[in-house]
Amino acid sequence: MKNIIISSEKDYFKKYKKSVTEPEEFWETIASQFDWKKKWSKTLEWDFNTPSVKWFLNGKLNITENCLDRHLKDFGNKTAILWEPNNPGETAKHISYKELHREVCKFANVLKNNNIKKGDRVCLYMPMIPQLAIAMLACARIGAIHSVVFAGFSSKAIEGRINDALCKMLITTNEMFRGAKTIGLKAICDEALKNCPTVKKVIVFNRTQTPVAMNPKRDVFWSEEIENASSDCPAEIMDSEDPLFILYTSGSTGTPKGMVHSTGGYMVGSTYTFLNVFQYRTNDIYWCTADIGWITGHSYIIYGPLCAGATTVLFEGVPSYPDYGRFWQLIEKHKVNQFYTAPTAIRALEKQPISFVEKYDLSSIKVLGTVGEPINNEAWQWYHKYIGKEKTPIVDTWWQTETGAIMISSLAGITPEKPTFATLPLPGVQPVLLDDNKKEIVGNPAEGRLAIAFPWPSMARTIWNNHKRFKEVYFSTFEGYYFTGDGALRDEKGNYRITGRVDDIVIVSGHNLGTAPIENTIDEHPKVVECAVIGFPHEIKGNALYAFATLYHQEDASEQLKIEINNLIAKEIGVIYKLDKIQFVNGLPKTRSGKIMRRILRKIASGETTDLGDTSTLLNPQIVEEIIKNKI
Ligand code: WTA
Repeated sequence: MKNIIISSEKDYFKKYKKSVTEPEEFWETIASQFDWKKKWSKTLEWDFNTPSVKWFLNGKLNITENCLDRHLKDFGNKTAILWEPNNPGETAKHISYKELHREVCKFANVLKNNNIKKGDRVCLYMPMIPQLAIAMLACARIGAIHSVVFAGFSSKAIEGRINDALCKMLITTNEMFRGAKTIGLKAICDEALKNCPTVKKVIVFNRTQTPVAMNPKRDVFWSEEIENASSDCPAEIMDSEDPLFILYTSGSTGTPKGMVHSTGGYMVGSTYTFLNVFQYRTNDIYWCTADIGWITGHSYIIYGPLCAGATTVLFEGVPSYPDYGRFWQLIEKHKVNQFYTAPTAIRALEKQPISFVEKYDLSSIKVLGTVGEPINNEAWQWYHKYIGKEKTPIVDTWWQTETGAIMISSLAGITPEKPTFATLPLPGVQPVLLDDNKKEIVGNPAEGRLAIAFPWPSMARTIWNNHKRFKEVYFSTFEGYYFTGDGALRDEKGNYRITGRVDDIVIVSGHNLGTAPIENTIDEHPKVVECAVIGFPHEIKGNALYAFATLYHQEDASEQLKIEINNLIAKEIGVIYKLDKIQFVNGLPKTRSGKIMRRILRKIASGETTDLGDTSTLLNPQIVEEIIKNKI
C-alpha cells in the first residue's frame, strides 16, 4: 500500500490535479493496490439525476480478505485490535491478525449455522468490545449486511431500524459497562423485539456475569455457538457494488435514513483516506475514540485501519472514568501515535484541571485529529498546546455518514493546517460552494452551501428501501450536485471552513440529531399541544437542545412535566436526545402559512435577541416578546 501514500505537499497537489482531470485513472491506481478476486471491467458509471453511482463495476472481492487474509503471511502476529476494557483493572487484549481472522471465520460459521445468508440483514446492538468487530467482519465474510445500532439508542429506535431493514438476526450482550454503570442491553432488545417479527435469532454475548432472560425459541449464547464452529470459512465472493452495511443517520424530517454503503468503493475510500490523512506507518498504534455505532467507528476503527494492516485501539469506556485522565493515561500506556477524537470530548476535557494531562507522557503522539462538528478556536488551541505540545499536526476532518470517508482535511504533516478550518479536499473530492440562485461561486474568499460536484468511491449509494428519498434529500436541492446540508466558507487559498448545518439537524456532543423526531415525540405527550426543538450553543456539547412547547392547560407547566417529557424522549428515541431546556410558552412564532419560525427561536435561545430580523410577517408577532421575557 506504500505507493498510495501522499508524501509531500507538492505530491498532494499533483495527485489532486490528476484526480480531477483523470478521476478514473486516478482511482484505478489506488484500487489496484487491494486484493480483488476479479478485476473490475469499468471504473465508474454515474448520473447524479437518477441518482446512480457505481464504482469498479463487475469487480469481485471480499473486504475481509483485504482486512485479514492479506496480512497473514507477512504480519499475522501483529496486533490488529488492541482492546482496552472499561474497567482499568481489567487487562487489555492484543488480538493479532491471525487471531482475528480465526475468530471472524468461526463466527461467520455461527451466522451460517443460524441460517444467515448473503444479502440478509443482521442488526448489531453492542458495546465497544472485540465481539462487535468480529460480528461485523463475520457478516462481511459471508455477504450479510450489518446494521450497527449505537448502544445508547432506545428499544423503540432499535425496533424502527430492525423493521426498516427487515433484519433476520440481532446480536447483543447481556449487559454493557459504561464508566461506573452497567446497562442491560438484552432487556432493551427484548422490549424492541416484541414488535420485530422478522428477527428469528438473537445471539447474546455475556459481557458480565449477570444472567438474563433467554427466549428458548429464539435466543442463543455466543459462547455456546462458537464452541464447535469451524475456523474455516471461505470468503463469499461479492460484487463491488453489493451492499456492505446499512448505517442509520438522522434526517431533518421523518424517520432515520438507512444509508447503504457499497463493498468495493467503500473499501478503497476508507483505506485511502485513513493512510493519507493520518499518515499511518507500519508499526504505529492508532486510536480513534468514536463509537463503532457511528460512521467514524465503521470507517476509522474497523475497515480503514484493518485494510491498511494497522493496529487499531478499541476502547470500551468513557473519557471520564475512573477520572478525566483516562484518555491521556491510555495514550501513555499503549504509546498511541495517532489520536482521533471529537471536539465535544476535547471541550469536556479542557474544562478539567490540567494536572490530568500533565501526569502522563504523551510523547508518542505524532498526529491528532478531530471529527464530527466544527472545532472552535479555543478547543483547537488547547488541543494544540496541551496534547500536541505545539508541534503535532492536527487534522480537522470533515465528512459525513453519507460520504463514507473523509472528504476535506489536511494530511498530517504534509499539507498546511489552519485552526478551525478543515482546509483542502482530499484527492478525488470536488467540493463547490453554491449560492441562493443555485450557482457555483467561483473565486475566493466565498461563502455558501457546500456541495460535491463529482462522485467519489465511498459515497452512499442509496437510502435502504427509499431511493426516492435519497434523491430528494441529496440530489434535488441543487440539481447535478450532491448536497451536504452544510454551510461553508472558503478563504483566499481555497481552504474550507465548515460553518454548520443549514437544515434542521443539530449536532449535540458530536451526535447528529434530527429535531423532527424529537418534536414528534414531545407532541405525543397528552399535555402538549405542539412544540419546536432547536439547537443552541453549549460550552461543552457544542450544541444542546432547547424545546419551546405549548400546553393545553397552562397550569400544567411544571418541573415535573419537564422530567416527564425528557423521560418520554429517552424511552422513545434515546437518552442522547434529552433536552437541556424546556420552555412552556403561550404560542410559537409562526408564518402566515403556519410554519414555525425556528430561525427566531434559534436566535432567542442563543441570546441574540437584538437582531431578530423582520418579525412583522409573523402571524403572532407579540408572542416573540413574551418568549424572550421568559427565556430560560
Ligand atoms: C458535521 C460524522 C465541521 C457536519 C463523520 C456534517 C463537521 C455532519 C466536521 C456529519 C468537521 C463532521 N468540521 N463539521 N470536521 N465533521 N461535521 O454523519 O455538519 O455523524 O454534515 O458524520 O457533522 O455527521 P455524521
